Amino acid sequence: MSTLVALNQQVSESRITLEDAIRGRRSVHYFTPGVTITDAQWKKLFELTAMSPSSFNFQPWDFVVVDEASRKLQLLPLCWGQQQIVDCAAVVAVLGDKNPHRRDKQILQQFKDNGYIDEATKQAYLGAVDVVYPDEARKIEHAVGGANLAAMTFMLTAHGMGLATLPMIGFDPDGVRKFLKVPDDYVITMLLTVGKSAERDLPRQQRRGFEDIVHWDTFRG
Ligand SMILES: Cc1cc2nc3c(=O)[nH]c(=O)nc-3n(C[C@H](O)[C@H](O)[C@H](O)COP(=O)(O)O)c2cc1C
Repeated sequence: MSTLVALNQQVSESRITLEDAIRGRRSVHYFTPGVTITDAQWKKLFELTAMSPSSFNFQPWDFVVVDEASRKLQLLPLCWGQQQIVDCAAVVAVLGDKNPHRRDKQILQQFKDNGYIDEATKQAYLGAVDVVYPDEARKIEHAVGGANLAAMTFMLTAHGMGLATLPMIGFDPDGVRKFLKVPDDYVITMLLTVGKSAERDLPRQQRRGFEDIVHWDTFRG
């Protein structure tokens, strides 16, 4: 985290309902340049993001925050020249952890200490992780699924705090990986730009309707 001091450009926090947050969150493409996010805001953003659910509570997410102007400028050509990369307050790379075993002993011990399971079940769960995530494809699903739930929490939390975000997949994954020094056992699932909206985005586009997306009983049922 940088030691940026938020000046008068600091965004103010709002109090809105969850429904308002869901209805009001947008993918913001136009940010007000020169805005900074305070250390307290970062802490709150990530404290709430960490509340996201995950398989076995393994929390397969990490984040790399880039908030220095010169570093954001270097990211720009790696992100298809998308201007929001430099105008936003910070770019957050969302990483999914492909190694579900990384903290399994510690986390399953917490399950036991908190009264969820006994020692025998803990041992069975330790073995089960291999069964649930037997190959690279399943490990990637675990990494991407878990990290992207956290990304959604981040976007809603940010919106509730008066901050705008843009989820981005338009970047060179190898270039960004190298630039951010991300190890091979993590997937960069998306980049999130975060900052203050310049209020120039077009209205939200239509969504598929209830009848179209909900399938009762079976997919074609
Ligand atoms: C995983 C993901 C990747 C995206 N990548 C980009 C991107 O690289 N550039 C961009 O301008 N918008 C990107 N978007 C934004 C979508 O276009 C946007 O979410 C969609 O049009 C719906 O708009 P709304 O979020 O304002 O409702 C991305 C969204 C998601 C969820």
